[in-house]
Amino acid sequence: METKIIKIQDDFAPLCEAAKIIKNGGLVAMPTETVYGLGANALDPDASRSIYVAKGRPSDNPLIIHICDFESLEKYTNIQKSPDRELAMALAQAFMPGPVTMILPKADIIPLVVTAGLDTVAVRFPSHPVARELIRLSGVPIAAPSANLSGSPSPTCARHVINDLDGRIDIIVDGGACEIGLESTIIMPKNGRIKLLRPGGVTVEQLEKFAPVDADKALTEKLESDEKPLAPGMKYRHYAPKAPVAIVSGEYGEVCRFFRKMLENKNNAVLCFEEQKNELCGLENVFVLGRRSDSDQQARQLFDKLREIDGHNFERVYACEPSKDGVGFAVYNRLIKACGFEVIKL
Ligand code: TXA
Ligand code: MG
Repeated sequence: METKIIKIQDDFAPLCEAAKIIKNGGLVAMPTETVYGLGANALDPDASRSIYVAKGRPSDNPLIIHICDFESLEKYTNIQKSPDRELAMALAQAFMPGPVTMILPKADIIPLVVTAGLDTVAVRFPSHPVARELIRLSGVPIAAPSANLSGSPSPTCARHVINDLDGRIDIIVDGGACEIGLESTIIMPKNGRIKLLRPGGVTVEQLEKFAPVDADKALTEKLESDEKPLAPGMKYRHYAPKAPVAIVSGEYGEVCRFFRKMLENKNNAVLCFEEQKNELCGLENVFVLGRRSDSDQQARQLFDKLREIDGHNFERVYACEPSKDGVGFAVYNRLIKACGFEVIKL
């Protein structure tokens, strides 16, 4: 299959072609404010099935449906029948459109292949103008996981999508780099509380204004073999670079000294804060995640850095420890997963 690439800047007219492909059961990669998604008609079981094939995604890992208005929230979920509807509606009003996904009772019209057999559906109303216009033109909700091959980091620009999916999908809509760079915050309103299944651009601190937040254990700790995360996808070791990665935790100066020592071996690499780079000058294999206090910048750059590091054949990668506050918690979660939960405590 030849994959067509269309670039969208100010003129959205070329999106009509992509919308036609969605309507006809094809696969379209689209930009969102979080990461690129691999979209298909969420009401068409065959189209949704082809997403799993193109990505090499396990069939027990459900998809998020993307909508472009509040009427669709009522149409494709049973939000009104949920015992937590008031909380759910308040969260939707506060954070949609935006980088959040809500797990709600599913409407019958959504095929089971989309939800991997679950009676709940993950729904997201993106704020990215290109994504919204594509959904609107398609006239259907768009089922879309991140547009990467299963097991590699989510794509934050069209180049990442091309590297993973060229020849496997119909069209890639290039809308530039993603503003947030990490996947959406996934929440489930339950018994007047908010279960946090995946941290993202909408932070725990923001959610706590609405109800108490319970973070799934799977976000920061390795689960035992008999434990299951609330989001089926969180059990897979995504974002795993080829070389083993470990977070190095300790006092700032001590961590810098540790990095210097590890870099004496040319087969090792370091992913550090901007400020640490100055202390490692003259050394090779140093990659910068972002400024230490700038979690938004770290979020935007993390997946690109992991892909860049993956392009080399390092034996071992040592990473700085992101803050767990605000968006930092999402950065920490993705990085610790990339590490297979390995932390070196100095
Ligand atoms: O930002 C995002 O959320 C991006 C963009 C494209 O919207 N999408 C994305 O999709 O990250 P994906 O498929 O890579 O991650 C979806 C996660 C998976 O961990 C999946 O298991 C979980 O959502 N999920 C989907 N439906 C669910 C459900 N009904 N109950 C619990 N978890 C669900
Ligand atoms: Mg994904």
